[in-house]
Amino acid sequence: MQAIVKDLKNTAAATNATDLRAAFAADPERFAHYSVALGDLLMDFSKTGVNEQVMELLERLAGEADVAAKRDAMFAGEAINFTEGRAVLHTALRNRDNTPVLVDGKDVMPDVNAVLAAMGRFAEGVRSGELQGATGKAITDIVNIGIGGSDLGPVMATLALAPFHDGPRAHFVSNVDGAHIADTLKTLDAETTLFIIASKTFTTIETMTNAASARAFIADTLGEDAVRHHFAAVSTALDKVAAFGIESDRIFGFWDWVGGRYSIWSAIGLPLMIAIGAENFGRFLDGAHAMDTHFREAPVRENLPMLLGLIGFYHRNVLGYPSRAILPYDQRLSRFPAYLQQLDMESNGKGVTVDGTPVEGNSGPVVWGEPGTNGQHAFYQLIHQGTTVIPAEFMIATKGFEPKLHHQHELLIANCLAQSEALMKGRSLDEAKAQLTSKGTDESQAAFLAPHRVFSGNRPSITFVYDQLTPFALGRLIALYEHRVFVEGVLFRINSFDQWGVELGKELATGLLPVVQGTESAEGHDSSTQGLVARLRSKSA
Ligand code: F6P
Repeated sequence: MQAIVKDLKNTAAATNATDLRAAFAADPERFAHYSVALGDLLMDFSKTGVNEQVMELLERLAGEADVAAKRDAMFAGEAINFTEGRAVLHTALRNRDNTPVLVDGKDVMPDVNAVLAAMGRFAEGVRSGELQGATGKAITDIVNIGIGGSDLGPVMATLALAPFHDGPRAHFVSNVDGAHIADTLKTLDAETTLFIIASKTFTTIETMTNAASARAFIADTLGEDAVRHHFAAVSTALDKVAAFGIESDRIFGFWDWVGGRYSIWSAIGLPLMIAIGAENFGRFLDGAHAMDTHFREAPVRENLPMLLGLIGFYHRNVLGYPSRAILPYDQRLSRFPAYLQQLDMESNGKGVTVDGTPVEGNSGPVVWGEPGTNGQHAFYQLIHQGTTVIPAEFMIATKGFEPKLHHQHELLIANCLAQSEALMKGRSLDEAKAQLTSKGTDESQAAFLAPHRVFSGNRPSITFVYDQLTPFALGRLIALYEHRVFVEGVLFRINSFDQWGVELGKELATGLLPVVQGTESAEGHDSSTQGLVARLRSKSA
C-alpha cells in the first residue's frame, strides 16, 4: 500500500492535480466526469484535486487494501472489532430486506424486529396519549438522558427532521454539569414528562448521575410510585436497568455488536421515533438501507462511500491536509458536524494499526464545522486565505420545507455555490489589482492593497445535493458517512470500532473524585493537578 501512496504523491505533483483552475479550464466536462449520484443524492467531487491518473491509483489502493472483502466481512457479522471480540452490525438494524444476519451462527433479525416493534408500540402509545403519566395526564415532553452515541444521534436527527416532528417536545440532557439538567427541568412539568435513560453500558457516570437527578425530580414532586410511569430506558445491560427500577415493558434492548456512535438505528433512536412517529422512523431506516445496498453493490468509481473515503484518505495521507470542515447549508443539520466528530474522530483517531504497529503516515483528520451561512461570518476567512488547506464538504437541499420562503432558499443556494466556486477559483494578484483600479483606486494604492485581496484558490471541496431533508434522505446521508469512516479506517489499517482513547480520562476522573470531595489526599498527583484541586476546593461552596 505504501508504494501506491508514494505513487499517488508523485503523480499528484507531476500532473499538477491540485491546480483546480487549470483542471476546469482543460476539461469543460469536469463536473460530469467527477460527480456521481444515488437517486436524488448527488456527490460533486470535481472541485477536489483528482484526475484520471489519481483516480486509477486510488482505485488500485482500494483493491490492495481489500476494502471490498473487509466491507463484506462487516456485513457478514465477522468479529472485525477484534480488540473487543465483537461483530459490527449496525447495518442489521436497518436490514429492511430482513435477510438473515448471523452472529455466532444465530440470526439476529428476529430480535432486531422484535425490539423495533416494541419501540413502535411504546412510541405510538406516548404520541397518542394512551400511555400517560402517574396522574393520568398525557406526555407533552420527553427528556433523553445519555451522552456520546447515546445523545448525539437522537439530538442531531430530531433537529434535522423538525418538519416531521408531530409528537411531544424532545429535550436532551448529556453533560454532567448540573446546569444542563437544571436548565432543562426548569421548563418542565413533572406530571407530563417522560425520561428516557439511554446508555449502552448503563454505567456511564454522566448519564447515571443525571438519571438520579431526574428520578429525584419525579419522586420529590409526584412520589416514589410515580417513577415507573415516568421512566423508560435503552441499554444492552438489561439487568442494570431493572435494578434502577424501570419496568420491563419500558426497557428497550440492543446488542454489543452495535457501537455507541453507530446506535441511532437501534432503540437509542427511541426519542426520534416518539418525535416523528414509527412510520417516519421506518423511512429513516430505509434510507440507510438504500446506502448499505449501494455500498455493497456499486463499482468503486460509482460508489459514494468508497469515493468519499478514498478522497478523504487522499486529502489526509497524500496531500497532508490535517482537518476537514463539514458545512451543511441546511440549518436543521446544525448538529451534524458534532455528530460526525464523534463518528469519525472516535472511530479513526487511532495511532496503532491492526498489527499493533504505529500507523504509517496519518490516521483520521480533525473534523469540525457549522452550518452555512453562519460559518461564512466566522471562520471561512481562514478557509479562504489562511495558511492551512482545509477540504470542505458542503451539503444542500434543492428545496426547503418553507414554500413561502423560497426566496431565502435561493439565497442559501447562491451562498453555498459561491463558497465552493470562490475556494476553487481564488483571485490572482492581477485580478485583485484590476478590481481595485476599476473602482477608482490609483495604481500605486492598488499595488499596495492588492496582496491582501489575493485568494490562492485551488482549495478543495465536495458538494452534496439532495431533494429535501426527509427521514429517508437523512438516513442515507448518515449511512454514507458511516461507510466513509469504514473505508478510511481500512486504508489507515486501524480498528475503527473500539475507543480505548476515552478510557484513561474516565479512569482518572474516578480516581480524582474523592480528592475533589476532600476525602482523599492529592498526594501522588502532579503539582499542576494538586495546585488546581487546591484552588478549586478553596473557592467551592
Ligand atoms: O465516549 C465513550 C463512549 O463509550 C462512547 O463511545 C459512547 O457513545 C458513550 O461513551 C456513551 O456510552 P454509554 O451509551 O454506554 O453510556
